[in-house]
Amino acid sequence: MSRHKIAIVGGDGIGPEVIAEGLRTFEAAGVELETIDYDLGGARYLKDGTVLPDSVLEEWRDVDAIYLGAVGAPGVPPGVIERGLLLKMRFELDLYVNQRPFKLAATDDQPGHDFIVIRENTEGTYAGEGGFLRKGTPHEIATQGSVNTRMWAERAVRFAYELAATRNNHLTLVHKTNVLTFSGDLWERAFNEVGAAEYPGIETAYNHVDAACIYFVQDPQRYDVIVTDNLFGDILTDLGGAVSGGIGLASSANLNPARTGPSMFEPVHGSAPDIAGQGKANPIAAILSGAMMLDFLGETEAAARITAACDACVDLTGSTREIGDAVSSKL
Ligand code: NAI
Ligand code: MG
Repeated sequence: MSRHKIAIVGGDGIGPEVIAEGLRTFEAAGVELETIDYDLGGARYLKDGTVLPDSVLEEWRDVDAIYLGAVGAPGVPPGVIERGLLLKMRFELDLYVNQRPFKLAATDDQPGHDFIVIRENTEGTYAGEGGFLRKGTPHEIATQGSVNTRMWAERAVRFAYELAATRNNHLTLVHKTNVLTFSGDLWERAFNEVGAAEYPGIETAYNHVDAACIYFVQDPQRYDVIVTDNLFGDILTDLGGAVSGGIGLASSANLNPARTGPSMFEPVHGSAPDIAGQGKANPIAAILSGAMMLDFLGETEAAARITAACDACVDLTGSTREIGDAVSSKL
């Protein structure tokens, strides 16, 4: 078995607590990793102003993956860590796909169901286009542009088709084409043309994002794989988390599918300063994100075993360590 080289960013608050459980789980699953710790996040910024040095990015070009807990601490001005660390990683490492799986438990009137959202992760309104005019005056203006590259929409769409082909051959585009008539038009053509030319066997559907919000709550069974833009994906995936077990279970991958550099894997939740240091954080989201990492690195068997072990523990209550132990004991 090859030894994977993993950059670890525990980060702030509960981040290091949940990452520690992830690492213990991988060990229990018999996966050998070479880990390198990086002290980054809100606390580091408050200590010496460091956010994400270029020298660290250089080192990361040489690792197989990045495993991140959560970053952000009280007292750090908004945007410093989000733009300076998380978005910079996405842009610099070209992590152009954000993948988030959702699992709905079976209920009395519905069988269990799972679906995946693929969010374009590098442009749209998050590209940083825009600015102020006359800032701070009564006549100030702020603009925030949405950047949509045909090739970059296509690469996200193509990834989603490929994923759909490994599942149930069904893919839904979510956008707001009736109002966003420029970006929506580009996305819709990219979606339809890539599908028709390269994936004729995949059945497609389209939902406006507002309708998708209703379906996420009332009829998520209609979805198998969804592809959407950066902002819609950000909001929709939080809704997905809320309807499928909550923030303690929500995992994610920020992928560079071309593998020109490492991909980054993190639980969806933040640093939860309200419960940090108390052993109350649920580590399942971090462990599942780690399973996505192992899967992406080719450790498919270990990844499947860890995911199954987590699935068997989703209803457990207990301390961070107790839940981590319970997952490990299932391995
Ligand atoms: P949060 O996700 O940290 O916490 C929201 C609520 O969920 C809190 O009540 C918290 O106790 C609870 N919670 C979160 N994770 C949990 C877990 N694993 N087990 C049990 N309960 C859990 O979001 P919030 O409060 O908005 O942000 C706190 C800090 O985290 C901020 O500095 C924010 O910027 C940062 N953040 C970082 C993210 C990242 O690193 N990707 C993502 C979201 C927020
Ligand atoms: Mg979000």
